[in-house]
Amino acid sequence: MHILLLGSGGREHAFAHKLIQSKHCTQLYIAPGNPGTASLGKNISVSINDFEALGQFVLQNNVELVVVGPEAPLVNGIYDFFLNNDALKHIPVFGPSQIGAQLEGSKAFSKAFMLRNNIPTAAYAEFTTSTLDEGLTYIKNHTLPIVLKADGLAAGKGVVICSNITEAQVEFKEMLGGKFGNAGNKVVIEEFMDGIEFSVFVLTDGVDYKILPTAKDYKRIGEGDTGLNTGGMGAVSPPPFVTNEIMQVVEQTIIKPTIQGLQKENITYKGIVYIGLMYLKTGELKVVEYNCRMGDPETEVVFPRIESDLVDLILSVFNHQLSTVELKISNKAATTIILASGGYPENYEHGKLISDIEEVTDALVFHCGTKQNEQGALLTSGGRVLAVTALHENWKTALSISNQNAAKIQFEGKYYRRDIGFDL
Ligand code: AMP
Ligand code: GLY
Repeated sequence: MHILLLGSGGREHAFAHKLIQSKHCTQLYIAPGNPGTASLGKNISVSINDFEALGQFVLQNNVELVVVGPEAPLVNGIYDFFLNNDALKHIPVFGPSQIGAQLEGSKAFSKAFMLRNNIPTAAYAEFTTSTLDEGLTYIKNHTLPIVLKADGLAAGKGVVICSNITEAQVEFKEMLGGKFGNAGNKVVIEEFMDGIEFSVFVLTDGVDYKILPTAKDYKRIGEGDTGLNTGGMGAVSPPPFVTNEIMQVVEQTIIKPTIQGLQKENITYKGIVYIGLMYLKTGELKVVEYNCRMGDPETEVVFPRIESDLVDLILSVFNHQLSTVELKISNKAATTIILASGGYPENYEHGKLISDIEEVTDALVFHCGTKQNEQGALLTSGGRVLAVTALHENWKTALSISNQNAAKIQFEGKYYRRDIGFDL
C-alpha cells in the first residue's frame, strides 16, 4: 500500500518511523517531510494545504491512505475535500471532518460541545467586539487568575493567563483588536484551573475508540516550568501519577461522553482526539482543550510505545474493526528531550551545522526543524530542531538516556531543558 503522510515536524518523523514498520506499507510519501523522513520514504514538495495538488499526487501515485499530521489541513477541510471529489472519495483520509476539527479550530465550539455533553471543563463565557463592554464587566467581576483564549488557531500563542484585572482587560481588548488576527474575533474567558496537566490520545471512528498511551509534555521554555510557552520541550509517557483509577474516571466522565457527543451530533470523526487534561489539586479531572491530531512532542513518546502495526490500527477506523483490533502497548516508559535553537520561542538563527548525531546510542532521534544543504550537511531550520527519545522499564533511566544523548549532539546555540520530568 502506498501511503501519503502530511507534515514536516518531529511528530511526522515519528509517524513515518511507525508507518514504514507496517506490513501494509510498501511506499511512504511525505509532503513536505524533513531530512529525517527522507531516510524512511520519499519527500515530495507539495503544500499540505493545496488539496487539489495533493489529490492529483494521490491519483498519480496510487496512494491508498492519507495520514494527516498537523491541524491546519484538517481545520481547512481536507477530509471533506476528498469525500466530495468523485475521483478521491474512496481514499481514506485519517483525521476528522472539518466540523470535527473545530474541536481544535474553535475554542468557543469546543467549550459549547463540552457544555452540551456534560464534559467537565473550566467555567467560561465568550465575547466578540459587539459584546466588548459585557466582557470588560465579566473580567472585573471574575476571580484571579483569569484565562483569556483567542477562539481560533493562533500557533499555540492564543492563551494568556492574567493575574490582575487591568492586565486582563488590556489583553482582552488587544485580542478583539486583532492581536492574533481573525483568531481573536471571538474571545473565550475562563476560570483558572490549578493542578498538573497530562494528555490522552483517543483513536476513534466516531463510534468506537481505543485509548493510546498517555503522556505529559513540558510546554515552557525554562527549567522549572518558567518563561514563555513553546510547542513543547520534552515529554514523558506514561506520566507515573496517572493511575488506572484516574484513567477510569477519565474514560467514564470525559472520553465516553466525548465520543458519544460526536455520534449524537453526527460529527464524522475518523482520527485522533487529543484531550489535554488538568488533574486539579481538588482531585477533579477536567478538560483543558481538545486537539484534532496527535501532539508534538507527545507522538515521539507515544508511538515508540505502541507495538501493534499502526496501519492496522488506522485501517480499523475505516473498516469498523476498531473494537476488535489489537492495541499492544510496551511496558517500557518513553521520554523525549527537545534540542532547540538558542532564542526560541522568540527570535533564533537558522542554518547552524548539526554534528555528532552518529554518537547517539540506545535512543531514537526525530527531526523537528532540520534541513540539508547541497553538500548533504545537516543544518538547523527551526526553533525545535531534534527530539531525542529513549525507552526503558524505568522512566528515570529513560530520561537519563535521553539526557546523555541530548548532550552528545552539537550545534551552535543548542538549548535544552535538563529537568524534563522534574515534577513527577
Ligand atoms: P490550550 O491551548 O487551551 O491548551 O492552552 C494552552 C495552555 O494554557 C494549557 O496547556 C495550559 O497550560 C494553559 N491553560 C489553558 N487553559 C487553562 C485554564 N483554564 N487553567 C489553567 N491553565 C490553562
Ligand atoms: N505539545 C502540544 C501540542 O501538540 O499541542
